[in-house]
Amino acid sequence: MLEVPLILVNFKAYPSAIGERAAELARVVESVGKEKGVSVAVSPQSADLYRIAKEVDVPVLAQHVDSLRPGSGTGWLLPEAAKEAGAVGSLVNHSEHRLELEEIEKIVVRLKELDLVSVVCARDPEEAARVAAFKPDMVAVEPPELIGTGRAVSKEKPEVVSDSVRMVREVDPDVRVLCGAGVSNGEDVRVALELGSEGVLLASCVTKAEDPRAVMLDLADGVLRARK
Ligand code: G3P
Repeated sequence: MLEVPLILVNFKAYPSAIGERAAELARVVESVGKEKGVSVAVSPQSADLYRIAKEVDVPVLAQHVDSLRPGSGTGWLLPEAAKEAGAVGSLVNHSEHRLELEEIEKIVVRLKELDLVSVVCARDPEEAARVAAFKPDMVAVEPPELIGTGRAVSKEKPEVVSDSVRMVREVDPDVRVLCGAGVSNGEDVRVALELGSEGVLLASCVTKAEDPRAVMLDLADGVLRARK
């Protein structure tokens, strides 16, 4: 299980975060996590899972897997293959890779069977509560309109975070709630944690940064300030 509070960095499909650059970025995330004593994880392209898991000591999550079972199934992402590549889990239903509820449930079940962590994304508190019923390890609420804007959900729509925490808890208190979209600095992280979330899912502030290490240090400081 990933420790919380967690900073989960989604590499998406940013050119600065693929191939060897993905490994370099993962090393930055790893070193800041260790230096600050803060739980961190990365979610690179599937093609980079093996490289990062092998070269860097940081938990790695796939950005997506399918509910496919071993056998025939060309071009789909087999959860077993993600596990063998070194992934500890997967994002599910990211805003940029939306799935039907039925498929989300099947994927959560498949990840559980393999002892892999599931982080199911949701657009709003209602969807967060709906997917919490599938008992994933984590739900990450991300209002789509704030993704990639640099305007943090914790500041722009704090009620989305606190309502998600409350509603998910009502469904299943064991499901952890993360939040994301626009989270850009330590203060955004601190506020997100104060609102009751147990971590952040973020991308562009790190993947597009001129100095990703400086941004990571600031984000980690936000976690430390929330602990006080
Ligand atoms: O998965 C994280 C994401 O959708 C938020 O993206 O760039 O707003 O941090 P960003």
